Amino acid sequence: MSNSQLVEALNQALSWELRAIAMYAHYSAYVSGIHRLHLSAHFSNEVNESVMHAATVRSAIVKLDGTAITERDPSPIVHTSNYKEILEEAYQTEKAAAEIYGRILPLVEELGDSELYDSLEVVYFDEQRSVEELRMMMKE
Ligand SMILES: [Fe+2]
Ligand SMILES: [Fe+2]
Repeated sequence: MSNSQLVEALNQALSWELRAIAMYAHYSAYVSGIHRLHLSAHFSNEVNESVMHAATVRSAIVKLDGTAITERDPSPIVHTSNYKEILEEAYQTEKAAAEIYGRILPLVEELGDSELYDSLEVVYFDEQRSVEELRMMMKE
């Protein structure tokens, strides 16, 4: 495995975090109805978490002497103020993020850099937690 493969996977994660920042900021502004009260604040926290994840991934790319991407993943962000649709979009996004980090971790393990591994594992667990949280939020 070369560093370039890992950098490519990290850049995919970074572009997905940049998309998550835009998506959660949008939904925090638009979510409507009675659930706006808590969901708007929750999505705003997700923006901050995604900014922190992006910073972790960017640092990893710098450490590997790679060039970090500056564009967000082009997957469209569905415009809606309906909280059920928003939760579904968030769920799909978190699932995709967890899947990307799940692919990155074995590559980092192969590299044998435990500091890098630990920092990215934290992000992976955050995404896993979000998937489970959203699953519970969507339950009737
Ligand atoms: Fe994230
Ligand atoms: Fe996330």
